[in-house]
Order: sequence, then C-alpha cells, then structure tokens
Amino acid sequence: MAQRVRVQNFTLSSDGYGAGEGQSLERPFGHADPSKLMSWAGATAHWPNRTEPGGSYGLDDHCARDFTNNIGAEIMGRNKFGPQRGPWENYDWQGWWGDEPPFHTPVFVLTHHVRPSFTLGETSFHFLDATPKEALERAFAAADGKDVRIGGGVHTVREFLDADLIDEMHIAVGQVELGRGERFWTGPEQLTDRFHLERIPSPSGMVHHFLWRR
Ligand SMILES: NC(=O)c1ccc[n+]([C@@H]2O[C@H](COP(=O)([O-])OP(=O)(O)OC[C@H]3O[C@@H](n4cnc5c(N)ncnc54)[C@H](OP(=O)(O)O)[C@@H]3O)[C@@H](O)[C@H]2O)c1
Repeated sequence: MAQRVRVQNFTLSSDGYGAGEGQSLERPFGHADPSKLMSWAGATAHWPNRTEPGGSYGLDDHCARDFTNNIGAEIMGRNKFGPQRGPWENYDWQGWWGDEPPFHTPVFVLTHHVRPSFTLGETSFHFLDATPKEALERAFAAADGKDVRIGGGVHTVREFLDADLIDEMHIAVGQVELGRGERFWTGPEQLTDRFHLERIPSPSGMVHHFLWRR
C-alpha cells in the first residue's frame, strides 16, 4: 500500500485553536492549559507518553493507539520542538520529551535555523530548512515504507494542507474555549471540499473528526 501522510491526535479547542497565545518554556501551549486541552489523550491506556499503568479504553483510546500505527517518521515545526525562537544560542535543548521521546522513529524538525542531528532513545531528530514537499521526500525515504505523521504545530499542519500533501487527519475537538493563539480552523467545513468528514462524539466530551482525501 502506498505511503500516506497522516495527522494523528491533533487536538483543538472548541473554537479551533491548537495552541494558546504566548508559548514559552514554562507554558509550552501558551495560555492554554495542556492538562485540559490534551487531557482526553493523557487519560487513555495507550497514550504514547504514559509511564504508569492504567488508563481508559474505548474510542479515545483507539484514537490514541493509532498515533504510532504504521508510522515510520514524523515531521514537526520548530515551535513544537521547543520554546526557542531565532538562531540557536547552543544545542543543549533536545526537546520536551526526556531520554525516551514517544516517537520511536526519525523526526524531521522544520526550521530556518538548522542544527546537527542527534538521537535520544529510539528517536532521531533531524533539522531541515525545506519546503513541505522536500521535507516529505526526506521523511518518506526514512520511513521504511511506512506512513509519515505531520505532528504539528498548527503552522506546520496548515502548511502541509495548503500544499495539498495530507491524505488523512484525525482531529480531536474539545470543550475548552481558547479565544486566542494559533488557530487551525473556524470549523471543519472549511476542508470538506477536499476531504470527506466523519464526526464521532466520545463519552469524554471530545468530538473526533476523521478527514480523508476525496
Ligand atoms: N494541539 C495539538 O495537538 C498540538 C500538536 C503539536 C503541537 N502543538 C502546539 O502547537 C504550538 C506550536 O505550533 P506553531 O503553529 O506555533 O508552530 P510550529 O508549526 O510547531 O512551528 C512553526 C515554525 O517551524 C518552522 N518552519 C515551519 N515550516 C517551515 C519550513 N517550510 N521551512 C523552514 N522552517 C519552517 C519555522 O520556525 P523558524 O522560523 O524559527 O525556523 C516556524 O516558525 C506549541 O504550543 C505546541 O505545543 C499542539
């Protein structure tokens, strides 16, 4: 089967924001509280960052489980990778995720300020100043025949959408309202000219949006 380009577990506020205003080291999601915005995923048994046993099963968990399913590489934006902006002062920062990041594949970080690659656990990070198409060629080549996940943040997913390079998306919309920050959409109807859309509500209150290319 052909390699696909997927967005997984991308989480939005009820008013369409994927991050709040004012991202920083102390507040990676800006004024958004990640324990509220992302709590649906953190509660599941298969949350990729889970270190303790336990967690819920059901629809939210099925979605969380799909995060790694047949994924061979991720592409993310530099703002997801860290709070620094502009040229690197040094290369001490190695992401938010500790010694064993939850990706377990090559990760390509898009940035105008490239730096040397490094490896943490089963994840290698590579820095690319490239168009979405060029980045995708690199990621496909590294993915060992598997799919490529576009991991966010908002700017990066929008960039790949604008380049019409995304095949399918899972977007979880919650009940938290953010009002400002990085807005992904005003509503999923914006994408239905290019994507099929199914919305499935979960008992947790999240509404899972599945979109796939027409
Ligand atoms: N809601 C969710 O599910 C979710 C998922 C992931 C992340 N997030 C959150 O989203 C926020 C980050 O999103 P964001 O929209 O601010 O930024 P982002 O998409 O993570 O990163 C944007 C930056 O990536 C670099 N970049 C992007 N495309 C590039 C290209 N083609 N060539 C070179 N550089 C390129 C640029 O950085 P430079 O100009 O500095 O090089 C650009 O400013 C964080 O708060 C993160 O926690 C949320």
